[in-house]
Amino acid sequence: MKVLIRAIVSFFVFVVDVVYSNRSYARFYVLETIARVPYFSYLSVLHLYETLGYWRKADWLKVHFAQTWNELHHLLIMESLGGNRLWIDRFVAKHIAVAYYWVVVPLYMALPKYAYYLMELIENHAYHTYNGYLNEHEIELKTQPAPQIAIDYYRDGDLYMFEEVQTTPDSTFRRPHVNTLYDVFVNIRDDECEHVKTMVALQQLDARPEGVTKSL
Ligand SMILES: [Fe+2]
Ligand SMILES: [Fe+2]
Repeated sequence: MKVLIRAIVSFFVFVVDVVYSNRSYARFYVLETIARVPYFSYLSVLHLYETLGYWRKADWLKVHFAQTWNELHHLLIMESLGGNRLWIDRFVAKHIAVAYYWVVVPLYMALPKYAYYLMELIENHAYHTYNGYLNEHEIELKTQPAPQIAIDYYRDGDLYMFEEVQTTPDSTFRRPHVNTLYDVFVNIRDDECEHVKTMVALQQLDARPEGVTKSL
C-alpha cells in the first residue's frame, strides 16, 4: 500500500514540477491549494465521527484546523506574490483539490494511517521544494520585501494558531524573522517540516474509533 501511495504522489509531483518548472509562484500556488485539502478531509471525517457520537477527538480537530490555518497563510502569501494570476492555474488547482478531497475522505475512514502517510510524503515534498527554491534564489529573495500577510501571520498578529502547529515544547516556540522574502520562504519551509513531524507522530496512533473499526 505504501508503495502505491508513493507512486501516486511521485506521479503528481512529477507532473506539477514539469508543467510549472519555470513558473515558481504559480507552482507554489497550485501546491498550496492542493496540499491543505487532506486536512479538510481529516476534519470532515473527525466531525462526522463526533456528530454520530462514535468518537471525540477535539485535540486532533484543533491540530488539523491549525494546520489548515497555516497552509491558508502559505496560500495567501503565494496569492500576494501573484501565483494565482492566471485563470488556468486557478482552474487546475481548484479542480484537483475537489477530487483530492473525495479521495482522502474514504482513505482516512478506512486506512487512517495511510492517509497520514500520504500527507507525510506531500509535506516532505513541500519542504524539499521550498528548500531548493531558497538555495537557488537566495540573493534575489533577500532583496525583496516580505508581503504584509506574512508579517501579520509570523510576527505581528495573534500567534496562537501559529503556535498550535509547532511540535517543539512551549518554551522554544519559533519566533521567526520576517524581514525579507527570503525569511518568508524559510518560515514556510520550516512550517512544512513541522507538518511532516506531526504526520509521522499521528501514524503511531489509531485515528479511528473503536465502533467504526468494528463496523467496517
Ligand atoms: Fe504549505
Ligand atoms: Fe504543507
